[in-house]
Amino acid sequence: MASKIETTPDMVQNVYKKTAERLAVVRNRLNRPLTLAEKILFGHLDDPQNQELVRGESFLLLRPDRVAMQDATAQMALLQFMLAGKDEAAVPSTVHCDHLIQAYKGAGADMTVANATNKEVYDFLATASSRYNIGFWKPGAGIIHQVILENYAFPGGLMIGTDSHTPNAGGLGMCAVGVGGSDASDVMVGLPWEVKNPKLIGVHLKGKLGGWASAKDVILKLCGMLTVKGGTDKVVEYFGEGTSSISCTGKATITNMGAELGATCSVFPYDERMGAYLKSTGRDQLAAIADGHKDILSADADVVANPGKYFDEVYEIDLSALEPHLVGPHTPDLARPISALKKEVAEKGYTVKISSALIGSCTNSSYEDIGRAAFVAKQAMEVGVKMTSPFLVSPGSTQIQNTIERDGQMATFNEVGATVLANACGPCIGQWKRDDIKAGEKNTIVTSFNRNFRARNDANPETLAFIASPEIVMALGLAGRLDFNPATDELEGPKGKIKLQAPVAPELPAKGFIADTEGYQKPAGATAQVAVNPSSDRLQLLSPFTKWDGKDFVDQLVLAKAKGKCTTDHISPGGKWLNYRGHLDNISNNMLLGADNAFTGEIGKGKNQLTGETAEFAQVARAYQKAGKGWVIIGDENYGEGSSREHAAMCPRHLGASAVITKSFARIHETNLKKQGVLALTFVNPKDYDKVQEADRVSLVDLKDLAPGKNVKMNIKHADGSSETIELKHTYNAEQLKWFRAGSALNLIRGL
Ligand code: F3S
Repeated sequence: MASKIETTPDMVQNVYKKTAERLAVVRNRLNRPLTLAEKILFGHLDDPQNQELVRGESFLLLRPDRVAMQDATAQMALLQFMLAGKDEAAVPSTVHCDHLIQAYKGAGADMTVANATNKEVYDFLATASSRYNIGFWKPGAGIIHQVILENYAFPGGLMIGTDSHTPNAGGLGMCAVGVGGSDASDVMVGLPWEVKNPKLIGVHLKGKLGGWASAKDVILKLCGMLTVKGGTDKVVEYFGEGTSSISCTGKATITNMGAELGATCSVFPYDERMGAYLKSTGRDQLAAIADGHKDILSADADVVANPGKYFDEVYEIDLSALEPHLVGPHTPDLARPISALKKEVAEKGYTVKISSALIGSCTNSSYEDIGRAAFVAKQAMEVGVKMTSPFLVSPGSTQIQNTIERDGQMATFNEVGATVLANACGPCIGQWKRDDIKAGEKNTIVTSFNRNFRARNDANPETLAFIASPEIVMALGLAGRLDFNPATDELEGPKGKIKLQAPVAPELPAKGFIADTEGYQKPAGATAQVAVNPSSDRLQLLSPFTKWDGKDFVDQLVLAKAKGKCTTDHISPGGKWLNYRGHLDNISNNMLLGADNAFTGEIGKGKNQLTGETAEFAQVARAYQKAGKGWVIIGDENYGEGSSREHAAMCPRHLGASAVITKSFARIHETNLKKQGVLALTFVNPKDYDKVQEADRVSLVDLKDLAPGKNVKMNIKHADGSSETIELKHTYNAEQLKWFRAGSALNLIRGL
């Protein structure tokens, strides 16, 4: 039977019924109050009676309610899904074309270019979606997380999405988790989804937001408190009276950027602000059903009264005392209140002049966000101040765009000097054709986005990207200075000076939203033909990876030893490479191009141990593969942080990696490596990282005895003839070891 794509009242009733049944079983077993995250996760257990539930250790097998995919990751997810030979997606699933649209001249011109340059990809995604009963959102219809929030998210649901900011739907009380394409294809073929039973961080929100402080500042402050590793394998659950002082879309901003903490997801209890958002977006019935199930949509009373008893960590933020924050450059955990920035700018010598201000993205383009930014712009124009450098606006969806056009905020943006971009990711994902700054030129930008790794936005490593709320970005952009504080400084224009008032704006449009009637394509089912051009350089049908031969990995070459931060952007960069997301062989040429070579300090290159020549890592890997030599990657702390892209695991696998050995992994990347059949191992003693040298040969032995909880031995032969043995550990469970042995998770599914 065809799975319905919409979130219907019947479907939600059914989810709540099953949740209640499963929770009854779990309560019986645990005999204690439950947090909200536990209610949602345990309410979706595949086997509530027998599932092991040790926090931070057990792997939960869950039954998600939905799958969401963006166009860059959907290509590989659908190609993998097709390999499994199924007829339709087993759960409601949607594809959203938002990542491949380059920002340059503005929405109209950019869409024309995108439709032409991405035609074969869009045709593939549209036809494959249609064929396999998947909802398809056309290019320009909106950014995945905004469209999901507007149409599909619902309180108490469980969703996976092939994008790391999927947790955005936590603003509507959903556990929504960013995964790799292979997880998505597993769930679409009807398998349960596996995730480590997360530890729980409780964040007590006290007081009430006011003045210049916004929801964005809650999460920016938390990024500073917890750092980019603080949320790994954890769910962040917000509670306390402060939660209801934040709008539904504000909550979504907070849960969206839980990804910057590395958190599995973040979640808020259901409240009237969520109900209001559901009603405003045409889902009155869902609000009524949720109103009747508050018991499963919030934590038990004792959890809120005694959080220290039930959460692994508890933090407190007083919203009434919260100041606007800015984070950056280069990492979202470099946070400070705006009042501390002026001094730091002077001390650290950051470029003061702002070269571009950018607002919108999936993180911050709600009606409220846009309204608050427009409020600031209007005041500035009273004294004749307009933007003197580029001001780019990325609306989150056609629905938002239509509504702010009707209600006047868009006219304000245009008047103050905006270039309105397509309803798509654009500069947020590096799809920014920038000609105001030369490559390598030092400059400062401010954005309301969520991520600011070096070169993330414009491919220029010398760009300092600071992240703030849209209203702060607007104020700083208008002042043209990074060290401007609208709460204390005056803005000066040709018509005088003004002390900007703190922004005020409605969270929802009084006249309702104007729905997008054009952006969605309904599936046709089995009659649809999937379009893949065999000569395409952007799409390539997949062949299964080879099965593990049962032998140890002996005398492996060390292809790369990455030093410091090595995110999925470093392992599989975006930008122009996004074009090849659906073509495994071509995209593999980008492998590790951003990695910092620990032996030489060179970026993206290493020495071919067979020839002595230095080349890009992918070329060296291809040479090793041709010569029949296996190789490994050595990584530092939190290797693979950042995004869900499985290419960062598939490309090493495709080019012959046997293992990735690190001090520690980011969760999604570690799982992706396991799924693709690459051994993911960590040093028992992190200092052993230092022992691995450039010309070493390493052997991973006794692999036939690989078992959950059992360490792996690695023998290292150094070039001087000496050798040593170190211990590596892993987090494979029995099922995941089957993936390794089968050559990949998908091989196992095909075998089934
Ligand atoms: Fe797109 Fe940036 Fe969000 S890439 S999905 S707008 S984080």
